[in-house]
Amino acid sequence: MQDEQRVVSRRVFLAGSASGLALAGPLGSRKRSALKEPGPMLPPVPAILLSVKGKDGQPDEVSVVWTFVVNGSPPQVGVSVDHTHVAHGGITEHGQFVLNVPVAEIIVPFDHVDMNTHKVGDKYKLSGLTRGKAMMVNAPTVEECPIHLECKVIKAVELPPSRTLFIADVVATTVVEGICDEAGRLKVSAANYFGMTPGSGEFYTMGKLVGHIGETVGRSDIKY
Ligand SMILES: Cc1cc2nc3c(=O)[nH]c(=O)nc-3n(C[C@H](O)[C@H](O)[C@H](O)COP(=O)(O)O)c2cc1C
Repeated sequence: MQDEQRVVSRRVFLAGSASGLALAGPLGSRKRSALKEPGPMLPPVPAILLSVKGKDGQPDEVSVVWTFVVNGSPPQVGVSVDHTHVAHGGITEHGQFVLNVPVAEIIVPFDHVDMNTHKVGDKYKLSGLTRGKAMMVNAPTVEECPIHLECKVIKAVELPPSRTLFIADVVATTVVEGICDEAGRLKVSAANYFGMTPGSGEFYTMGKLVGHIGETVGRSDIKY
């Protein structure tokens, strides 16, 4: 073992590192207080368009959901869907769905999807978004979205009071031309991705590049 480093798998554990408090600058020394209402204030969070076949022959559904990555390899993701939402019935019945990554150019139809309910009309029609067909799963897609994650549910966990957490394998990731390089690495500046900021309810596109995984050990090849 080297004097200051222990190498395990692809990681290098450093014996010492810079003080986080010193690096945080003025933010690290400001007075902290608890908000009156706790909230999931984790800016930014991916807000994605989930598409799923309708339940019992009903029309296909498209819905906005918060999303999180459960694992990079194998690729697995999670969404939590309210029992009252139309998407809940579709996912429960078919066990398959698509996560469509939106871009700023469709923020208006994106908001229409959130503000309308499929209970009164087809949200594809209401929003003007284009329904497509997934390659590997039996589910519709949103064609305006440059990235599609085609998913199959592997576990459903009930979350009181009103949600089901669906954990799913990503069985196919499809992208339109120009989104990835030849090695399959995402070219982030090729599209206007955005995240939602819980705590303010806003959407922001990506800011400037501030670092990458493994930069402290000279790695730039890790992409997950
Ligand atoms: C940013 C954002 C994130 C959302 N995340 C979720 C979510 O994770 N789960 C959920 O059930 N609803 C979520 N919603 C709300 C649903 O998308 C919305 O209420 C849904 O379109 C209801 O449609 P329905 O009545 O046709 O079922 C979110 C809405 C927004 C704007």
